Amino acid sequence: MAFLTIDETKCKQDGICAAECPRRIITQEDGKSFPQVSEADEAYCMTCGHCVAVCPHGALSVTGVDIEDCPEIENALVLSWDRAKQFLRARRSIRVFKNKAVDRETLEQLIATARYAPTASNAQNLQWTVIEGRDKLESLSQETIHWMVGVIKAQPDSAAADYFRPFVAHWTTGYDGILRTAQTLIVPSAPKESANGLVDLSIALAYLELAALPLGVGTCWAGLLRAAMLATPELVESMGLPEGHTWFYPMMIGYPKFKYHRLPERKAPVIHWK
Ligand SMILES: Cc1cc2nc3c(=O)[nH]c(=O)nc-3n(C[C@H](O)[C@H](O)[C@H](O)COP(=O)(O)O)c2cc1C
Repeated sequence: MAFLTIDETKCKQDGICAAECPRRIITQEDGKSFPQVSEADEAYCMTCGHCVAVCPHGALSVTGVDIEDCPEIENALVLSWDRAKQFLRARRSIRVFKNKAVDRETLEQLIATARYAPTASNAQNLQWTVIEGRDKLESLSQETIHWMVGVIKAQPDSAAADYFRPFVAHWTTGYDGILRTAQTLIVPSAPKESANGLVDLSIALAYLELAALPLGVGTCWAGLLRAAMLATPELVESMGLPEGHTWFYPMMIGYPKFKYHRLPERKAPVIHWK
């Protein structure tokens, strides 16, 4: 099968696909024939799907991006500015979760949506480790507290020790301030050699937490666990992340116990116009 398949009954030879191609490998002889990709250039295609997405006539498919798998954008589903603004503003870090785990089907839906996050060179090479069960999360929190106690002992006058003391105190009263009451933890990872892996992971996590909102699922970046993971290789090992992969941040997932009713203001943006 050809790398670029053109439905000649639909193609209007308008050159939009060629103009949009980020790698400039779609060409049109004389600017008016059917678009094509030379065999030598096929390897440069990053299968981003821009050509398929931008063609107003549904006239082309490219290997790896079959038009059959590319539904049309529905105008009725496009967010208005007001809806988008409220949607983005309403996301909150959840720290009080219901005693009910998010089921695998929902988690799969979330992850499948988060994969639409951009990745450098369209690498799409992230993997997702899902750690399920309050017992497992509690033991990760326990390890984090153990690490904090060590830091407090070793450097009692440090800013870190001051920051950690309340978390240790809460833990001794039975409150888990590390992973709160979450029952699930998601840790995306990227191949160690990927140049932009950490950025890709960060964006994917941001997508994940936004995708969670309409499903009634809440999230929170697990920064304290991350700090313990950075300091404790055995802790990372115990999580069974994929071999040869690097991770960036674990994220707590669960159903929020409480509903939010207002949109707190942020600091005013600082903008430098040049
Ligand atoms: C990188 C990062 C790490 C975070 N780590 C934690 C954490 O360990 N525990 C926690 O309760 N919240 C954590 N948070 C949540 C922030 O405190 C929260 O985003 C901030 O207070 C703003 O509130 P909002 O997310 O509800 O808008 C983290 C957020 C980010 C972005």
